[in-house]
Amino acid sequence: MSRKNKLRKFAEILSFPNVFECYNAQQPALVGVDMTPIDFRGHWASQHFNNNQPITLELACGGGEYTVGLARRFPDRNFIGVDVKGNRLWTGAKDAMDSGLTNVAFVRTRIEVIDHFFAPDEISEIWITFPDPFPRSSKVNRRLTSPFFHDKYRKILKKDGLVHLKHDDPDFYEFTLETIREDAQCRLLYSNDDIYASPLEYPELELKTLYEGKHLAKGRTIKYVRYLIG
Ligand SMILES: C[S@@+](CC[C@H](N)C(=O)[O-])C[C@H]1O[C@@H](n2cnc3c(N)ncnc32)[C@H](O)[C@@H]1O
Repeated sequence: MSRKNKLRKFAEILSFPNVFECYNAQQPALVGVDMTPIDFRGHWASQHFNNNQPITLELACGGGEYTVGLARRFPDRNFIGVDVKGNRLWTGAKDAMDSGLTNVAFVRTRIEVIDHFFAPDEISEIWITFPDPFPRSSKVNRRLTSPFFHDKYRKILKKDGLVHLKHDDPDFYEFTLETIREDAQCRLLYSNDDIYASPLEYPELELKTLYEGKHLAKGRTIKYVRYLIG
């Protein structure tokens, strides 16, 4: 994408009523349309979505294909896509607005500070879709299923809240399973290292992200883990 196109998208999302941005992870705070400060922590459903529906987050959402796809399937739930890249969020936010989906929002932030924007027990489910694998062991804490991130999720997720990981990388898949095994609070519910080899266990797995499409085109198999972090 050209720099000009990116800048146009950065400017446009400032006027999107379904996008909230954090400009400084050292001092986490969100702004909405025209840089207006907002604080929905503990009140996203009532103050932003104007309902009392449960909230699902999609972390590392990129263009938000899962956020928007799930929102279409489950109008009785709210969905919030989270990513640090505004030009990617633009795609999902625009699609949601053009489709008239009122149960979708996006938060542009580093996921490291996610617990500043949601209250304990405010989140019912978390999807993590094709996060960067960070293969070097020195970057283990940047992997979105590391104990470091699980501790953040625990602060905002309900006790029985599901976590879903979809990935193509066998090492990331094994790393996630190992993290679950080594954490007494975590409980594995389902895992599959080639979900499309047999009929899908869960129908929502048929939704595909941009990166998933690229991985499938290269003949890679898609893996899925469903678990509780307790
Ligand atoms: C490989 S892309 C996958 C995007 C999308 N889920 C898909 O499957 O098409 C990984 C995404 O994670 C985001 N990301 C990685 N680490 C992040 C972090 N710590 N905080 C926020 N976003 C992050 C990147 O900006 C990028 O959009």
